[in-house]
Amino acid sequence: MMFSSKLALALASCMLVLTTSAAAAQKKITLGFSQIGAESEWRTANSESIKAAAKDAGIDLKFSDAQQKQENQIKAIRSFIAQRVDVIAFSPVVESGWETVLREAKAAKIPVILSDRAVDVKDTSLWVTFMGSDFVEEGRRAGNWLVGDLKQKGMNGPVNIVELQGTVGSAPAIDRKKGFEEVLAKYPNLKITRSQTGDFTRAKGKEVMEAFLKADKNINVLFAHNDDMAIGAIQAIEAAGLKPGKDIIIVSIDGVKGAFEAMMAGKLNCSVECSPLLGPQLMAAVKDLKAGKTLEKRIVTKEGVFPAESAAAAFPTRKY
Ligand code: AHR
Repeated sequence: MMFSSKLALALASCMLVLTTSAAAAQKKITLGFSQIGAESEWRTANSESIKAAAKDAGIDLKFSDAQQKQENQIKAIRSFIAQRVDVIAFSPVVESGWETVLREAKAAKIPVILSDRAVDVKDTSLWVTFMGSDFVEEGRRAGNWLVGDLKQKGMNGPVNIVELQGTVGSAPAIDRKKGFEEVLAKYPNLKITRSQTGDFTRAKGKEVMEAFLKADKNINVLFAHNDDMAIGAIQAIEAAGLKPGKDIIIVSIDGVKGAFEAMMAGKLNCSVECSPLLGPQLMAAVKDLKAGKTLEKRIVTKEGVFPAESAAAAFPTRKY
């Protein structure tokens, strides 16, 4: 009797050890993701990509929408730290002001991945990798496409360009402007005559373009830092009795479906691609990190340029 109760006890503790280690093996990786908001078609596609990829990868995703406010992103990151998630990823709304919270994550030994946008911090050990587009290159691509288009149209005289910038202080707004201006610097006849933020939204793009058109009858080109602002501006141009894509040449960035529709309707001349489909890459990085692998510090997304002539052929295969 004594012997059998000892045996039962030993068996029970064995079972407990087995169940605990099986549970540990099955414990899902937790990822806290702080998204900027839902300001554009691009951002919506980016959020969908992240959610779908987390599901496919079996990662427990804690997703937080900051409604385009840095303070909300900081709050979300602090809450992820308090919840002791395995990895934190975020797409920073602006470049500066992240040192303190990133130091808190580092002190808690939680690795941070930058997705889509960069931060401006001196200590680069505060984040493990930055995956996303080369925004300076996107600005250059927009500029180079414009130079080629003007040449083809024989527009050799002065060209007045208005610019709709993205969110003030954000990496894509700073970098796209830089890349575009780098190209323009080689062509003294091409001048940015007006430049203002449209905060990456259709509504603001429309509003600012309306103001540009009221103040200026001499606009030849619009460079919009994203497609949504270009689509808003197209509405303003039409309301002013002009033909977008003809009276005013328009080049923008993202390559969302809305831009392809505008190109096929002859209202937008070119969209430079910026892919929001970062989800699978992000989940792979999270798994690699948990497996103890070292990630590359910079992972650049591969992208193309879509002039209006290529829109109809490319449209059926567009994924966002
Ligand atoms: O950071 C990527 C940019 O953010 C996209 O170009 C824009 O549409 C979005 O809001």
